Amino acid sequence: MTGLPKQRLRVGFVGSGFIAEFHLKGMLGVRNVDVTGVFSRKAENRARFASRVAELGLGDCTSHDSLESLVNADNVDAIWILSPNYTRLDVMRTLHAEVKAGRSKVIAVACEKPLARTIAEAREMLRLAEDAGLNHGYLENQVFCTPVIRGKDIIWRRAASATGRPYLARAAEEHSGPHEPWFWQGDKQGGGVLSDMMCHSVEVARHLLTKPGAPRKSLTIKQVSGTVANLKWTRPNYADQLRKRFGSEVDYRNRPSEDFARGTILLEDEDGNELVIEATTSWAYVGAGLRIQLELLGPEYAMEFNSLNTGLKIFMSREVKGEEGEDLVEKQNAEQGLMPVLEDEAGVYGYTDENRHMVECFRKGETPMETFHDGLAVVEILMGLYRSAEISGSVSFPAPELENYVPVVARIGA
Ligand SMILES: NC(=O)c1ccc[n+]([C@@H]2O[C@H](COP(=O)([O-])OP(=O)(O)OC[C@H]3O[C@@H](n4cnc5c(N)ncnc54)[C@H](OP(=O)(O)O)[C@@H]3O)[C@@H](O)[C@H]2O)c1
Repeated sequence: MTGLPKQRLRVGFVGSGFIAEFHLKGMLGVRNVDVTGVFSRKAENRARFASRVAELGLGDCTSHDSLESLVNADNVDAIWILSPNYTRLDVMRTLHAEVKAGRSKVIAVACEKPLARTIAEAREMLRLAEDAGLNHGYLENQVFCTPVIRGKDIIWRRAASATGRPYLARAAEEHSGPHEPWFWQGDKQGGGVLSDMMCHSVEVARHLLTKPGAPRKSLTIKQVSGTVANLKWTRPNYADQLRKRFGSEVDYRNRPSEDFARGTILLEDEDGNELVIEATTSWAYVGAGLRIQLELLGPEYAMEFNSLNTGLKIFMSREVKGEEGEDLVEKQNAEQGLMPVLEDEAGVYGYTDENRHMVECFRKGETPMETFHDGLAVVEILMGLYRSAEISGSVSFPAPELENYVPVVARIGA
């Protein structure tokens, strides 16, 4: 591609919600980037987002009232897709059409997890990006978590080099449930907690097990086994709570998605050694807030990270009364007692390094560490796990029969 490297990358956001705010916080720690445009459906959301960009000093952000206007703007080089899962493909189709027609000068696209709701959709996302000649990045923040970067480096450099590669990665992500109704609706989101959160766990675990610098294909998926369950939100009082909070379209008495999922993934390395990923996710965890637990085990060593074992803790007595907030930790459940505080959530969760990496790759025309190919591979694993749960048996890979597979909970209402 000509004209690279660019001095600065000018980014347009599609979506102005929860994750868009996290990306802005992350971009505060990134050089050579400006946030120059935003599109989402509601003018008030776009205006709030544009003023937030100004407040943070991240650029002069124009509010666009259509996606076409955003992707065709003269001052937008790259698009960050941060809208709900069911809007992904339409956004990508529009971007593809405008670039192919020569109306858009966009050179790169980054997309939030999961890349898509099904394998067929994910494959189409990848095809559209490549057919339009776009550089592409898959936004899996956990791969860029500061403890993952530091822990993986030390384990592989000191311990694996001396005593042999790691063989078991465990990844868990749990919280008390998502913040917007569409996450709870299987057809819109693509499933329940398995598709929403296990996409993180399987990819960060695979990343930890992969030799630094080795390609994705250095590990082969052999077999996956999944279990899903409804632990909390189908209980009548909790189903009613959801309905009251989100409206009648979130009906967990009749149309629930799973709020617990477990997956075991058997892999093989280049030398035929067996490796295992164990992943657990739930929307039924009521602790202080979001808990990410990661482990990497090898013959003579172990690494462990728990996002709630923070160095900083705050105690507030019962006399401290205030409004509910998420100012201590994501998906916070209390404002009293002994509470963990993550001093730099954007850094620890990986948003800062993720954005720095994508911006630098796109600016220079280099291939990011996580691309739409990785996003597609993650969806393949998730669909294998859903299918395994459906048939109560293991699924062997490769599994071409899953190409058009739709998880049971996503079929409802489709
Ligand atoms: N990496 C992570 O840990 C993480 C965490 C949370 C979410 N995510 C991912 O990020 C994505 C967004 O999640 P979120 O939590 O930010 O959701 P959210 O809070 O519901 O925000 C969605 C945003 O998209 C906009 N939107 C809705 N439909 C749209 C459309 N057709 N075209 C353009 N914009 C549209 C909404 O604004 P309007 O109403 O104004 O359109 C809103 O700003 C999801 O894919 C989710 O899986 C990732």
